[in-house]
Amino acid sequence: MNQVLTETIRVTGLFGYPVIHSFSPAMQNAAFRALGLNYIYVPFCVHADNLGAAVESVRALGICGVNITIPHKERVIPYLDWVSKDAALIGSVNTIHNYNGTLKGYSTDGPGFIRSLKSIWRSPSGCRAVVLGAGGAARAAVYALVKEGADVWVANRTFLRAVELARSINTATGADRVVPVDLLGDDAKNALLRADLLVNCTSVGMYPNVNEQPVPEEWLHPGLFVYDQVYNPLLTKLQKSAQQKGAETSGGLGMLVHQGAASFEIWTEQTPSLDIMYDAVLGAMGAGHSEL
Ligand SMILES: NC(=O)c1ccc[n+]([C@@H]2O[C@H](COP(=O)([O-])OP(=O)(O)OC[C@H]3O[C@@H](n4cnc5c(N)ncnc54)[C@H](OP(=O)(O)O)[C@@H]3O)[C@@H](O)[C@H]2O)c1
Repeated sequence: MNQVLTETIRVTGLFGYPVIHSFSPAMQNAAFRALGLNYIYVPFCVHADNLGAAVESVRALGICGVNITIPHKERVIPYLDWVSKDAALIGSVNTIHNYNGTLKGYSTDGPGFIRSLKSIWRSPSGCRAVVLGAGGAARAAVYALVKEGADVWVANRTFLRAVELARSINTATGADRVVPVDLLGDDAKNALLRADLLVNCTSVGMYPNVNEQPVPEEWLHPGLFVYDQVYNPLLTKLQKSAQQKGAETSGGLGMLVHQGAASFEIWTEQTPSLDIMYDAVLGAMGAGHSEL
């Protein structure tokens, strides 16, 4: 079914600033069309000063739901009627669902990451993971890994942010499984040399800084699986270095698709085609939104 632009169409979208480079509209609209759903996904460029009014417009206009991206994932929480336990714990919402006028907030970043990781590697249960970064993506990844039963060393350039992240997740989960380390010190190197899994949740290596990597190549080794959450470029410098050292790798495209699929399921209660979502993102990248 083609999207029919009458008042019966269900509107979804994205609130962020900026949103021009997002692949989500291509990905979600392709998935709606493939299932014959009369839904549409629209990018909305929302300045921080207008966030409260924008969220209230979801209710006022009967918008079905929206994704929330940088820089609003944390600041959006006070405007919602209800927030899932996991989203409250990591302090981040990337999906709003307008449920009969009640605005509910979820985070699909962690589940999207774990679904993607399991589809290309294995369950992280029992593994030793090093997570680079202490921003929103790192919080979601660390919490999701701990819930899956991994032990996590979180390494950040600003060490105090790693300390705070580890403290809050350890307190919230009641499990002492997260250890903070300084990204620039020997503790990070030693943790990585003994790790099974490395997850890059920094923006290092992201377009246009494609010749940068967050850790030296000497710290990488065979037996390590490297998951770089950066998806533009598809093959990052970190992945290339890891492959040269005999490690297996993945970029962040799978996570992008899986977190989008999880939002789609919340809004529609249907399961989208992952293949169609992958193809749509790759098509949008090829259309000139990235360096590809
Ligand atoms: N694949 C997906 O679906 C997906 C989803 C979400 C995010 N991501 C990616 O994950 C990355 C992080 O996103 P975010 O939302 O967590 O961003 P964020 O909150 O801004 O955090 C950025 C992190 O990167 C670190 N960092 C930045 N520049 C650095 C440098 N030159 N050297 C070392 N560390 C540096 C920061 O360290 P400091 O604390 O020291 O500043 C911070 O820990 C982005 O590349 C984003 O595209 C991917």
